[in-house]
This record gives sequence, structure tokens and C-alpha cells, in this order.
Amino acid sequence: MGGALSDRSGRKVTTRTLRDLKLHRDPITCLTAYDYASARLIDEAGIDMVLVGDSLAQTMLGYDNTLSVTMDEMLHHVKAVHRAVKRALLVADMPYGSYQVDAKQAVLNATRFVKEGGAEVVKIEGGEKRTDLIRHIIDAEIPVAGHIGLTPQSVHMMGGYRVQGKDLRAVEQLMRDAVALDRAGVACLFLEGIPREVGAMITAEVETPTIGIGAGPECDGQVLVFHDILNLSFASPAKFVRCYGDAASLISQAVQSFAADVRSRQYPSDEESYHLPKETKVALETVLERKRAMRR
Ligand code: KIV
Repeated sequence: MGGALSDRSGRKVTTRTLRDLKLHRDPITCLTAYDYASARLIDEAGIDMVLVGDSLAQTMLGYDNTLSVTMDEMLHHVKAVHRAVKRALLVADMPYGSYQVDAKQAVLNATRFVKEGGAEVVKIEGGEKRTDLIRHIIDAEIPVAGHIGLTPQSVHMMGGYRVQGKDLRAVEQLMRDAVALDRAGVACLFLEGIPREVGAMITAEVETPTIGIGAGPECDGQVLVFHDILNLSFASPAKFVRCYGDAASLISQAVQSFAADVRSRQYPSDEESYHLPKETKVALETVLERKRAMRR
């Protein structure tokens, strides 16, 4: 349909904008970003939401999974992205261990993302069982994004990264999770790694906008990992990943060309060098000539 907001005016995206976009059936765009440069490019391209995902554990820090990344590591990246983002809604992922212990610790960590990092929304993985916690964080005036389906922080409980919601019981649980989070007042709901049919049912059932990743085209919006769309992930891509550019080849070629130019002394050229001002050069030559004469 493409509603009144489809022109993507330069207006700041807020949690209200997400609801309006859902109402107008205007697809919401979201990408992950972890640093200043990529966040600037993403924001300037008019993407609606920027997620500082805990996927940075793998994409930026080289960990095996998302479980090891700490609050301080996440904050470091949230701050860098915040300096770049002017229009998009800034969502920060609460890392594993930062909200599971108790509500007090969760609220403290969520407030750090807002106060120190400039985040506008925090994201928490899990369904029904997180609703009390989510209400506590919302009570502290912090909007929360839910995240259900394939939740990477539960990798050991799931027995690997597997598509969720494949049998009737699992579908019913996902529906209960989605409705519970909707009632708890989440600002949006990330749906990861679930069958298209389930993504569509949840999207039709809840008022909150759904943002899918491997959850089919009926979701209210789509998110992908920045490194995946640019072939920078060093892993075989999941079925839902669409690669929009080969930054890996671009970077490799540029790095190899630099090394070749340095080794063959073609870099830097005279034009790429600083020069002495004329008077200094003349004066220097006089001094050097005098020194040479004294040595003779
Ligand atoms: O951490 C992340 O990048 C995410 C998205 C995949 C939704 O949570």
C-alpha cells in the first residue's frame, strides 16, 4: 500500500513512527550497526531503525556466539553508533547475563544504555516469561523491543541455531509469547527464524510492529545483519540472507593494491607528499651548502 510515511521524510523516527508505519502497512527497515562509519551510512540512507545487536560479539569481536559479550563491550559500540545516528531509532541489545539475574539489575543495565549510550529502545530476548521484567523496564521510561523465535542467547537450550515453531505446540507457544509481549507494551517485536506462516499469524494478531529476520515477508518490517548483506561475516549465510554487495572482495583488493604500491615504491607519489615552503627550502639549501663547503 505505501502510506503517508512512505516518502521517508527526514523526520526523526520514534516508537510512535513504528506504530504509524504498521497502521499504514508501510514496511519498516532495520539494519544492525556497530560503529560510527557504518551507522552514518545506514542512517543517511534513510533506514528506519538501527540495532546495535549483540551479534557484534561475532561480527566485530570474533567470539563463537553471542554469549560472551559484556555490557561494557556493548556500551562501547552503542556510544559510537549514537554519535552517528540522527534520524533512525536507536535500539540496543541487552547482552546475555545483563537482564536474567533480577529485575533491578536489568533496569540498571537498561538505564546505562539510555544514559551513557544514547539508546532509545533496549531489546530483550524471550517471550511470556519476560513480561514482568519488561514492565519494570517500561516503568523506568525505557521502551523495550521483544525478540522471540530463534533467540541466539538460548543456543544451548535450543540445541543449536534451529528454526523454531515447527510443530503445533511450538506454534501455540510462540503465539502466547507474542501476545504476552504485546500486552506488556513492547515497542516492537523481533521475530527470528520461524516459518513464514507463523510470522504472518503473529503480525496479524499483535498491535506492536513485527520486525522479521528469517520470518517471512508478511512481517511489518525486516532486519538483516550489516555484515551479512555485505559478505563480511566469514560464515555460510543463512537461507534468509540476501547479499547486496561484496565488501570482502572490495576490501581485500584495496589492501592488496596498497601493499603492492608500497613495495614497488609507487606509494606515496610526490603529489601525495608535503613540501617545504620555498623560502625554507632555499634557506636549507644554503645551510647544507655551507656545511658541505666546511667539510671540503
Ligand atoms: O543481535 C542481532 O543482530 C539481532 C538481530 C539478528 C535481530 O538480534
